[in-house]
Amino acid sequence: MNDTYKKKTIISPSILSADFANLQRDVEILRDSGADWIHVDVMDGHFVPNITIGAPVVKAIKPYAQIPLDVHLMIENPQNYIESFIDAGADILTFHYEATKDLTEDVIGHIKSQDILVGLSIKPKTPVQEILKYLLMVDMVLIMTVEPGFGGQAFLQECAEKIPVIRQNAPENLIIQVDGGINRDTSQICKELGADSLVAGSYIFKSDDIEEAIKSLRN
Ligand code: DX5
Ligand code: ZN
Repeated sequence: MNDTYKKKTIISPSILSADFANLQRDVEILRDSGADWIHVDVMDGHFVPNITIGAPVVKAIKPYAQIPLDVHLMIENPQNYIESFIDAGADILTFHYEATKDLTEDVIGHIKSQDILVGLSIKPKTPVQEILKYLLMVDMVLIMTVEPGFGGQAFLQECAEKIPVIRQNAPENLIIQVDGGINRDTSQICKELGADSLVAGSYIFKSDDIEEAIKSLRN
């Protein structure tokens, strides 16, 4: 049996598909339905063509989450916002390699020095080889399997092929997370390829039974 199957997959439902007028309720539903983390998609209208939420909303949901807040920064100049997201209650802070490039190592160091988990993400068109040199420095790599910016897009299978490349080059405890187009079928593909954590928005929030939907991704 592959080692991957011995570990419990970390399910991180994305509140991008929640009802923003009822965020407290939806965060509590996720927490009580077996979610491991809550994934918070932060978009700035520059790095991606959409605007969502910022640190004040992270702070507002923090008391209701009671499970780690997995904050995915899809923003330019993430280095300028690290403290505000940590103060707001982020437990995992993931930023995009494409938003930092030469600054990547500094931003990783900055987040790590604040004693929370640091994640590095790549967009579909970014070759995985470009981030191999950072694998010893980060806690998590987030592989985007859709173009970041919107929920509800179709899974790009070719991006999932990056998972084993990361796995082969990473220390055993590196968390590999996949985000975009995850559902019952695509979650199986990602787990077989070696993913440790799955983000899902529309699949979970469109389902009639959120607890079952979360279980179906994990098992
Ligand atoms: C997309 C976001 C995702 C999004 C996933 O830019 O990073 O986290 O919420 O949504 P689904 O699961 O609907 O593809
Ligand atoms: Zn995300």
